[in-house]
Amino acid sequence: MWADKKILLGISGGISAYKSISLARLFVKAGAQVQVVLTPDARHFVTPLTLSALTGRPVYSESFDPDTGFWYNHVELGLWADVMVIAPATANTIAKMAHGHCDNLLLSCYLSSRCTVFFSPAMDLDMYAHPGVQANIKILQSYGNRLIDAEVGPLASGLEGKGRMAEPEHIFRNIEDYFRTSTTLAGKKVLINGGPTYEHIDPVRFIGNHSTGDTAVFLAQEAHNRGAEVHLVLGPTKYKGLTFPFDVRHVTSAFEMLETCLHFASHADVIVCAAAVADYRPKVRNEQKLKKNEPTLILELEKNPDILYTLGRQKKSNQILIGFALETENGEVNAFKKLKSKNADAIVLNSPGEHTGFATATNQVNLLYADGTILRSELVLKEKLAAWIWDTLSKSLLRS
Ligand code: C5P
Repeated sequence: MWADKKILLGISGGISAYKSISLARLFVKAGAQVQVVLTPDARHFVTPLTLSALTGRPVYSESFDPDTGFWYNHVELGLWADVMVIAPATANTIAKMAHGHCDNLLLSCYLSSRCTVFFSPAMDLDMYAHPGVQANIKILQSYGNRLIDAEVGPLASGLEGKGRMAEPEHIFRNIEDYFRTSTTLAGKKVLINGGPTYEHIDPVRFIGNHSTGDTAVFLAQEAHNRGAEVHLVLGPTKYKGLTFPFDVRHVTSAFEMLETCLHFASHADVIVCAAAVADYRPKVRNEQKLKKNEPTLILELEKNPDILYTLGRQKKSNQILIGFALETENGEVNAFKKLKSKNADAIVLNSPGEHTGFATATNQVNLLYADGTILRSELVLKEKLAAWIWDTLSKSLLRS
């Protein structure tokens, strides 16, 4: 897998640059070609000699050699790479990457690159937590750059907290996962829905639920990372206003979600219905805010369309349809019933708990197939769960 892989390793000026020497060695030992580019400040922390001895290539830092006038072609370097890894990525380098600055070779290579870029931040805890840094990290993620998040532990300042660069082995595994999975959904069109729906009672009130949309966003991100063309239809969530490297449609009600899903469904190879769609909506949407004049208020509700059911009815023979089920009792029996009645190919079953279900960072699910097979995931972060779901589907329903 690693043979002939070309890695552009950008090192910026932080104390954890010393760890990037081990990282370069891991890449080389695995069989990759590694080209190191240092920012001018990184040379205070690690020497070009060490890195060129390890990688067998000259290490670049300046845009040109002042003695010979030789110009290092950043465009060529950017296009040469299969993957660019910036580790450590300091607050300064992250800010410049986010805003298109270009005052050193590492930055011009970054701007010229067309490959996937990973960045591994490293800085003191308060710098890392600063909203300016966090906003810049989000900007980079919106470009499709992959964050390898900083770790918690002792820092060079003597303080302890989040800001340590991820360990070289961890960064290495991220790149290895990327090479393993980056094309597993290539050529596939994936439609995902997620989040809650809001059903208006009057101009200021609605019926909704606690769904965050996180699982759908992670599934979409992971499908995009694996090469799929992704369309994500999201109910009202904190993600509105953020930019993603794939198509995102924000909707409010179940009807709008259905309409938007129908728009993409006929072209989709895989459809994942992860949304917590409101089952009912108020029969009347009041034009004016309801007054509290009466001691009781009775709202008449009517049934919403079932999006998964609708998509199941019109499913094409080459389409894969995945539903979700959140059950509090008789989970598997109910989920199998849903799978059948909605004509899905698999159901992701989860149950609400302290660490599972809605609005939790982690989840544990069972994947139920039409033939009765049940596969259990571990209790993991929802990001990891998204990877597990695509890994598992790639080995079963999506195996070509
Ligand atoms: O029937 P239940 O709501 O438990 O089924 C859950 C599955 O059905 C989820 O995949 C959810 O997205 C989908 N669903 C839907 N439209 C609804 C209700 C649920 O698509 N109105």
